[in-house]
Amino acid sequence: RRSSVEALLTSQELDREVLVKGWVRTRRGNKYVQFIAVNDGSTINNLQVVADAEKFPEETLKDVTTGSCVSVKGRLVASQGKGQTVEVQATEIEVLGKTDPEVYPIQRRGAGQQGISLEELRKIAHLRPRTNTFGAVLRLRHTLAFGIHQYFNDRGFFYVHTPIITGSDAEGAGQMFRVTTLPDQNPPLTEDGKVDYSQDFFGKSTNLTVSGQLEGELAAMALGQIYTFGPTFRAENSNTPRHLAEFWMIEPEMAFYELEDNMDLAEDFLKYLVRYALERCPADLQFLNDTYDKELLNRLRFVIDNDFQRLTYTEAVDILKSAKQKFEFPVDWGTDLQSEHERYLVEKHFKKPVILTNYPKDIKAFYMKLDEDGRTVRAMDVLFPGIGEIIGGSQREESLEKLEQRMQEMHVPAEELWWYLDTRRFGTAPHAGFGLGFERLVLFVTGMTNIRDVIPFPRFPKNAEF
Ligand code: 4AD
Ligand code: MG
Repeated sequence: RRSSVEALLTSQELDREVLVKGWVRTRRGNKYVQFIAVNDGSTINNLQVVADAEKFPEETLKDVTTGSCVSVKGRLVASQGKGQTVEVQATEIEVLGKTDPEVYPIQRRGAGQQGISLEELRKIAHLRPRTNTFGAVLRLRHTLAFGIHQYFNDRGFFYVHTPIITGSDAEGAGQMFRVTTLPDQNPPLTEDGKVDYSQDFFGKSTNLTVSGQLEGELAAMALGQIYTFGPTFRAENSNTPRHLAEFWMIEPEMAFYELEDNMDLAEDFLKYLVRYALERCPADLQFLNDTYDKELLNRLRFVIDNDFQRLTYTEAVDILKSAKQKFEFPVDWGTDLQSEHERYLVEKHFKKPVILTNYPKDIKAFYMKLDEDGRTVRAMDVLFPGIGEIIGGSQREESLEKLEQRMQEMHVPAEELWWYLDTRRFGTAPHAGFGLGFERLVLFVTGMTNIRDVIPFPRFPKNAEF
């Protein structure tokens, strides 16, 4: 049976026959002995396969090139060489899949030459998981996803699956992708002769969800504590290193929580996830730290060890107004903060994660609970160094009357959200929740600088080839 590279590298049982399969990273050596570095994705580390040239002359090994797939039988032994504790002395090598090294785009370049850039790798997203970097990122992405389920499951939250095709706009921001079944030929028309998009989904207007929150609230008002974890879509023409058109979001929603409880949960949750990654993926994180960002591990430990700074939007505006730094965008009470403002607060002023609360009602979504002053809402944004907003959430308006009034003021169609309003009609209760952008979390934990490099197949304007 095949052993994984990870299992062999950490094995205490030496001097035994093993079978390993994987992709060749490099082959080097001389006329006496050849060294083949094999990786099967189970770990960042390669397994060294040693091939005696008497048994494996060049004619036999000619197809063992970078990128080819091999199956190796041999003896697992202690290694004499530097850089690994064990190696496999090959007795049989079979090439399962050849690779023409002349055209394989992921070559390990010689000393002094630049490796292939992250930008170039984006053009070959179908092959980039074969690199060390994407192997590490994808293993971390998996580990964080697993940690999220672990965290909630251990605390009595239920995982709820919310729909991807919906008839509503959860954020009321109008950034939706239309879902349509209308035929190109002879589509239904409105009275004035235009395509009748209200017939999109066999007779109903539909779009891809921007958030599972509204359905999550319904579930929380029945099951108490729930979370969603699924793909969400935003049809905004954003070309930034922090935005995707398709991203994954985690949205816990808790009955009987107020804003303070919501902040406590968000902070504990983020610290847990960073710790979880540090404990489970030390080799991948060390590699990313050494390769891209020497401060990565320090930054991760810092987040775990320090309280997040909590302050209101109004307090933040005061700090920004008296800042010596000149901003490109002016700071004015009532306007949304720009990323330069968020960065100033997190990276220059407080030098730690920040939770901003009680934003002006006009720049936040309709469902947030109005504060006593009638001007602000019980919103919270968690801001992280190098990332900006990683979490957005709020206490929800539980009063039917106030919610209906907010919807009217903000032109949110109440008739389409009758089912949502029913939660306020029947046994309403204080409740709160938030949304964590999964890719922004992965971005922070891996230290990558572009969100397109932490999801296997990024979706951004004009990019949907793979
Ligand atoms: O702040 P947002 O829009 O909040 C909501 O959708 C609420 N329904 C959440 C809730 O209260 N249940 O999005 C939440 C988070 C952001 O803080 C950010 O991390 C991420 O989702 N996010 C994006 N990530 C990548 N690309 C985009 N275009 C994103 N838009 C939001
Ligand atoms: Mg937000």
